[in-house]
Amino acid sequence: MLSNSSLKVIKNICCIGAGYVGGPTMTMIAYKCPNLQIKVVDINEKRIKAWNSPDLDDLPIYEPGLSEIVEKVRDKNLFFSTNVSEAIASADVIFLSVNTPTKIQGVGSGKASNLEYLERSVREIASYSSGHTIIVEKSTVPVKTAETIKSILISYFNKESSVEKTYSIISNPEFLAEGSAIKDLENPDRVLIGGEEIDAINQIANIYNQWVPEQKIIKTNLWSSELSKLAANAFLAQKVSSINTISVICEKTGANINEVSRAIGSDKRIGDKFLNSGPGFGGSCFKKDIMSLVYLCNFYRLDEIAKYWENVVTINDWQQDRISNLIIQKLFGTIRGKKIAIFGFAFKADTNDTRESPAINISKNLILEGAQLSIYDPKVKEDNIKREFDYCLDVSTNKEFESSWAKTDSVEEAVKDADAIVILTEWVVFKKLNWNYLVGLLRKPSWIFDTRNIFNLRDLKDLKNTGINIWINGQDIPN
Ligand SMILES: NC(=O)c1ccc[n+]([C@@H]2O[C@H](COP(=O)([O-])OP(=O)(O)OC[C@H]3O[C@@H](n4cnc5c(N)ncnc54)[C@H](O)[C@@H]3O)[C@@H](O)[C@H]2O)c1
Repeated sequence: MLSNSSLKVIKNICCIGAGYVGGPTMTMIAYKCPNLQIKVVDINEKRIKAWNSPDLDDLPIYEPGLSEIVEKVRDKNLFFSTNVSEAIASADVIFLSVNTPTKIQGVGSGKASNLEYLERSVREIASYSSGHTIIVEKSTVPVKTAETIKSILISYFNKESSVEKTYSIISNPEFLAEGSAIKDLENPDRVLIGGEEIDAINQIANIYNQWVPEQKIIKTNLWSSELSKLAANAFLAQKVSSINTISVICEKTGANINEVSRAIGSDKRIGDKFLNSGPGFGGSCFKKDIMSLVYLCNFYRLDEIAKYWENVVTINDWQQDRISNLIIQKLFGTIRGKKIAIFGFAFKADTNDTRESPAINISKNLILEGAQLSIYDPKVKEDNIKREFDYCLDVSTNKEFESSWAKTDSVEEAVKDADAIVILTEWVVFKKLNWNYLVGLLRKPSWIFDTRNIFNLRDLKDLKNTGINIWINGQDIPN
């Protein structure tokens, strides 16, 4: 339909969207493929300015190893710009890496993906591209999105144009995990490429082939590729919710969740990853992608399947409420006016991303109960925390919550005179703290709630006889 499938040599790549996917992914491609010229474009000027900042600490995204590679390739074969039309016009391949959040109003609200950013980008491609262009869905999209892209492109064929334009559409979902993005990109478990034309599939495969072994590149049809991304995230999230349900049974029965995780995880069919119980999954993808799957099931009237997957999200929300209720209950049923130190606000370690972080729900519940939060996170900026609270507490109408929290620059400041420490992100720095000293700064009686299994036996031994009450993921530790 759209393609003339000409096997031209790929030289110029454009990536639309300079976020957590577009930025690191294109940095790795630029690094591994010095023969390619890559332009990463975004409508967010602040973000592009940060990507171009001479101070690498100002990059908009924190990922271990990212700034080192950016330094090597930026302004050599990797360029960040806001000039979307110019980058499209010169591109042989365009990666669509824009955000595809859950719709928050209208039809499908709370479930369906909002494709307005993707649609806008496709219209721009239709207007500014020339010759043959391979369009790659890098964003996570609902199954059949390639059909939508085709329809938009076809509608532009009718408009007057002196330049001949043809397209191939490829699905190449990204499987990187934030916090280990560089490692994941450098050594992926697999690269998935779906399409209808083998030439276009091979051209994209040739890019990855410059550092990814052939046997790790999986080629499928378009719909398998689009669905596989949703299915992979649904399976991962389901594992987290499953282990969290088991941790609650442990708490009731005296079984130990770490022992159970180890016992079941050593079965190769189950695998030992994603079996740490904790405050539940976060990040911009898991919930959004499961809800997109639920929406798809509802669309095809597969209501039982929709319910099955939706429950994974329900359990996740429930687990976060359970943890905040447990904190309130242990602190004698009231936390009004009590200072609580929150350790970690990012949704996981080694990222500054707070989207859907479990820390948001748990903190919100504590604030609503009247607590005063003192938040320490080594990478998350105050603005980010403010944005999350402004939204979830509707601060514009509930001004009193503005002063319910403060970000601190040190753990000591966060802990001083607090009644409890709640560990919500598994930052390595938390594993190296002098807990004995920190416990001395707390108001007595005091508690530590370790939702991330940061504590080891040595820490517990050090804290013996300090009178501190410790709860580690489903277990009260006797002191
Ligand atoms: N974050 C992850 O870990 C991850 C992993 C795999 C896949 N994904 C998927 O990748 C996609 C992008 O995710 P992200 O985390 O990078 O999102 P993000 O919000 O960090 O970045 C998206 C960027 O696209 C830009 N953008 C939107 N519309 C644009 C337009 N018309 N022109 C130019 N730029 C535009 C935004 O300004 C933003 O900077 C999503 O579909 C997501 O589900 C994310």
